[in-house]
Amino acid sequence: MAEINLLDTYPKENRDVEGRFKQITKEHHKIARQFGEEFFEGDRLVGYGGYIYDGRWASVVKRFRDHYGLTSESSVLDIGCAKGFMLHDFQRIIPGIKVAGIDISAYAIANAKESVKAFARVGNAKELPFPDKSFDLVVSITTLHNLPIKECKQAIREVQRVSRKHAFITLDSWRNEYECERMIKWNLTALTYMSVEDWKKLFTEVGYTGDYYWFIP
Ligand SMILES: C[S@@+](CC[C@H](N)C(=O)[O-])C[C@H]1O[C@@H](n2cnc3c(N)ncnc32)[C@H](O)[C@@H]1O
Repeated sequence: MAEINLLDTYPKENRDVEGRFKQITKEHHKIARQFGEEFFEGDRLVGYGGYIYDGRWASVVKRFRDHYGLTSESSVLDIGCAKGFMLHDFQRIIPGIKVAGIDISAYAIANAKESVKAFARVGNAKELPFPDKSFDLVVSITTLHNLPIKECKQAIREVQRVSRKHAFITLDSWRNEYECERMIKWNLTALTYMSVEDWKKLFTEVGYTGDYYWFIP
């Protein structure tokens, strides 16, 4: 189990936390939490403001490949795979690798990259439709905190269960009061967010032994 930032090559965004906080309403949260078309393609106040493939996951996939020693013989599951952009880059960068994706959004799966459509399905992270130890690497990026605490714990246990070697998850968190305030202001969809110390205690409680890092706006 290691705290390691394997997303350090992912492009950094300059977030206007205060500006968004002033505009955001309960209605925006409600729309975002549906994880439908508006979350992916609609206004920035309800989600991504346009979720388009631009190859930005390629460098992250290379980090995973090098860190975990992934080869064409390996298998990877992405929980909260959205439109399968990262899985598509896994296929490009490690030809032959076995990919699988799951996401609660029927919209995202229906609009997934053609190359991953056959390997991505609608489902909930709290109950993964895979046998124990199915994948060499299980990844879940900014997804599991969207569940309420009890189900979030269940989902982290599921990551542990279906992984036979490695796991890497990122979660909404903070390291100090300043970051805590920014997280509360920026958060649109998360139902479970806490300090890094509290997440680490939770990992021990649920028996998670994989790697992890934080989304800190
Ligand atoms: C912030 S997006 C992250 C998408 C992708 N991992 C990325 O980093 O670009 C969160 C994703 O989690 C999915 N999601 C939310 N709750 C989920 C759940 N309970 N089970 C599976 N996927 C979920 C959403 O539909 C959305 O695609």
